[in-house]
Amino acid sequence: MSRKGSPNTLLQSKTIGGQAAEDMIELDRNRMPEHVAIIMDGNGRWAKQRGIPRLAGHRAGMEAMKKIVDHSDKLGIKYLTVYAFSTENWRRSMEEVSGIFKLLVTFVNRDLRELIRNNVRVKVLGDYSTIPADSKEALERTLAGTKEDTGLQFNIALNYGGRDEIRRSVARIAERVAAGEVKPADITEDMIGAGLWTGSEHADLPDPELIIRTSGEERLSNFLLWQGAYSELVFSDVLWPDFTPGEYEKCIAAYQSRDRRFGGRK
Ligand code: IPE
Ligand code: IPE
Ligand code: MG
Repeated sequence: MSRKGSPNTLLQSKTIGGQAAEDMIELDRNRMPEHVAIIMDGNGRWAKQRGIPRLAGHRAGMEAMKKIVDHSDKLGIKYLTVYAFSTENWRRSMEEVSGIFKLLVTFVNRDLRELIRNNVRVKVLGDYSTIPADSKEALERTLAGTKEDTGLQFNIALNYGGRDEIRRSVARIAERVAAGEVKPADITEDMIGAGLWTGSEHADLPDPELIIRTSGEERLSNFLLWQGAYSELVFSDVLWPDFTPGEYEKCIAAYQSRDRRFGGRK
């Protein structure tokens, strides 16, 4: 659906340095997603293409992430969730896993002041109690330092797994059932949702309208299984370190062209 000439369009591409005029994208200000979630994939392949270590790919991925945080804020998106480390990523080599956490510390330490200046509130989705101690401390400083910020909420899914969080939420409800506080027949979808990392007992986020995955892979890999029930999925072939604000806008434009029906019909 073309929205050319609509009074409600945002001409964003002028802000993207060096972008060709034909790449200009018009986004509909009235149809911006409130919550965008991103599976940042392809760091390893990006590094392999260049004959450099995988960790160099993760480092480049962090830089790409930073630009997307800034751009989300500019676009007026309220919640951005990024998949940084899955419950399955522990299967990788010790070297890669510890390298990823070191990069995360560098990111949060170096960029904390900037996040605060930009009024960005950081939250973690996932049980980060088991990550290396220095990474944990750096993260906690960031969470505490940005707690009062009222701008973009930036959620880092870390040691996150969709099945794991559903299991945790259900286990808590089972405890309440065992204690006689809740009857099985009174368990609601809202109760299960509340106990997820995104739920009202934790980060308190609406479901994402849009889930983006980069690198050409077309699967969820255990990301937001419950919350993504009606999310629009947009796949980009670009490897994550090459994902620019311009590519991001293309994904949002694809989202805006979709007809969301939620099972009903007008
Ligand atoms: C995504 O890039 C980052 C993490 C999963 C931590 P990958 O490391 O999965 O990159 P590919 O899929 O091997 O290219
Ligand atoms: C998903 O990517 C996890 C993150 C992006 C953090 P993976 O690269 O781990 O997923 P698979 O193995 O290709 O499914
Ligand atoms: Mg991958």
